Amino acid sequence: MHSFRTLLVAFAAGLLLSCSSQDVTEKQIDQLLAKMTLAEKIGQMNQVSAGGDVANYAEALRKGQIGSILNEVDPVKINEFQRIAVTESRLGIPLLVARDVIHGFHTVYPIPLGLAATFDPALVEEGARVAALEATAQGIRWTFSPMLDIARDPRWGRMAEGSGEDPYLDACMAEAMIYGYQGRTADSTSMAACIKHFVGYGAAEGGRDYNSTLIPEHLLRNVYLPPFEAGVQAGAMTLMTSFNDNDGVPSTGNTYILKDILRNEWGFDGLVVTDWNSMGEMINHGFGADRKDVAEKAVNAGVDMDMMTMGFISHLEELVKSGAVKEKTIDNAVRNILRVKIKLGLFENPYIDVEASKPVQYAPEHLASAQKTAEEAAILLKNNGVLPLKGSRRILVTGPLADAPHDQLGTWAFDGEKAHTVTPLKALQERFPGQVEFVPGLRYSRDYRDRFDDVVAAARRADVVLAFLGEEAILSGEAHSLADLNLKGSQSELLSALKATGKPVVAVVMAGRPLTIERDLPNADALLYSFHPGTMGGPALVNLLWGDVNPSGKTPVTFLRTVGQAPMYYNHNMTGRPYSGELLLDAIQPEAGQTSLGNTSYYLDYGAYPLFPFGYGLSYTSFAYSAIGLDKDTYKVDDTITVNFILTNTGAYDGTEVAQVYVRDLVGSIARPVKELKAFERVSLKAGESRTLSVKIPVKELAFYGLDGKKKVEPGDFQLWVAGDSASGTPVPFAIH
Ligand code: NOJ
Repeated sequence: MHSFRTLLVAFAAGLLLSCSSQDVTEKQIDQLLAKMTLAEKIGQMNQVSAGGDVANYAEALRKGQIGSILNEVDPVKINEFQRIAVTESRLGIPLLVARDVIHGFHTVYPIPLGLAATFDPALVEEGARVAALEATAQGIRWTFSPMLDIARDPRWGRMAEGSGEDPYLDACMAEAMIYGYQGRTADSTSMAACIKHFVGYGAAEGGRDYNSTLIPEHLLRNVYLPPFEAGVQAGAMTLMTSFNDNDGVPSTGNTYILKDILRNEWGFDGLVVTDWNSMGEMINHGFGADRKDVAEKAVNAGVDMDMMTMGFISHLEELVKSGAVKEKTIDNAVRNILRVKIKLGLFENPYIDVEASKPVQYAPEHLASAQKTAEEAAILLKNNGVLPLKGSRRILVTGPLADAPHDQLGTWAFDGEKAHTVTPLKALQERFPGQVEFVPGLRYSRDYRDRFDDVVAAARRADVVLAFLGEEAILSGEAHSLADLNLKGSQSELLSALKATGKPVVAVVMAGRPLTIERDLPNADALLYSFHPGTMGGPALVNLLWGDVNPSGKTPVTFLRTVGQAPMYYNHNMTGRPYSGELLLDAIQPEAGQTSLGNTSYYLDYGAYPLFPFGYGLSYTSFAYSAIGLDKDTYKVDDTITVNFILTNTGAYDGTEVAQVYVRDLVGSIARPVKELKAFERVSLKAGESRTLSVKIPVKELAFYGLDGKKKVEPGDFQLWVAGDSASGTPVPFAIH
């Protein structure tokens, strides 16, 4: 068994251009560049939001002043944009047509945090391929996805858009999505991926979006950069700079990350685009005096394309003439842009067949794939035995997310149409005609009510109560930070009123982030956390509740007990005074002595642990790990570690477990995380079945940037865990010499 990442990197070779076609591409670029005026070159570096009206942009297109458009999805208009660029501009260079296709195009998949919860890169790749098939059929050849920002603070609403807190899981998902979007070989269904936001954006202070970050070099190198490096290695064609300043330097003007690291260390030859007006926002940051100043700073830092500041189109020509920007810098940027256009085959065929694009949208196999993904993305967080449901005659369906076709699509689902959403209510009514009573209780997630008499009366008539709770789509995503992560409105009160009826209550939570649900758990006999599950969330959840599919999702982020614990993540460094079971608030005697509590790292009121650790998730069956061992005690730096273990399905249901391998480097030149995920495998076992598994981890995967700033494996003693989550298991020692 290979780790998923090894397989993907091998397969990246197929996607990158072969040497000879690379030469042809570079020659084609040379020829074009030789013909271009400075103004035409700068035009290629300009991206505008041209949704709506082709006529408004016709003149600029004819003059070659636009290299790329975003936010147009009508295929007829896209063809018209292309026709003007290709037939009426002097050089006929096609446009790159971009869109935020984040978790599906028309067929909406679970939000990216839910995709990460599947721990199933192959399925995530399939979903990205479906998104590419649907989007490219309508003329979209560039998506601003995947978002690779490590997010350790759920107050940050954009946690929804990424893979959570772990760099390894994030890297696996990055590669899967890039392969899915771009395809294994470039053809007319290839959609350029854009790894974003480079870099550190997820570390926004206090989880407040757009805020400053303070990520020091080791943390940047060891946590925030690795998913991007993996994305570059996987062949991502483009990259987007982030809004934040890190330690005072906004990313869009940061030469160190854009040139030294991205180009010189990693050899990235793709296109670097700014985020929306992030060049202009450098003026707000106080990093540039005016639009001309920030245009100069951005282009000299390594930005190739300006999204919506209009800084390049307005000022680059004079900046080149004054000598502040070299024409060679412009040539390099244009080279990076043309390379993407050539790789996508846009020069050969810039148009789409509008009629052929229709049957591709919401194709039955796309819906089936989205449903399977929603099934794998759901995490069973509690079950006192009520699930899977059997033989309920009368089902009460309640809660604000039970029939919320817009909200279950989640954030960044611009093109998903709610008319196509299958809600849990719809799926239940179809499966159990005449048995479902629907009393919503609350109209939307922030709705308030004092009494729930109607819902309680209905619950008394039912055999089982299904409460669909969570967040509306608008409460997560860009600019949607929250300081309180409890269920909003009267949702907790609704759940508690249902519990008081004594009927079995199953809660399903659809949300864009890990909410603080500790106070709600006692009021549910079972709780399934599905994130926002997308178009096919309804049937997926029904299959899970009735046991046609056994839950297998695992938490891609730590679930907090209370928001005051944020940020809390499993792969933290060990402190000098780790918690060792000291007293909590209620046990402290009045006037206790200053040092009587012991002095360790924890909250007096909430202790040291989260509600659910990273990697956690239950199943209807149970799994046991045994015979965990390594092929050797001591390894050399070039070796590969083989981790052997037996996984047994010890319960009564067939099921799938995500076996996780964590490693700790006991002593380093800098303090190291207490655990780091290094491999995982999804393993499906029949009830009672046992399987011997072996996972391979190249020792070089344990390398990190230490005190001397170099990436290497530091010899010494290590520990390794194989377990079903990040908080379980017994360490196996090994050494590297
Ligand atoms: C701003 C967001 O930060 C970015 O993620 C998105 O791709 C662009 N807008 C374009 O819509």
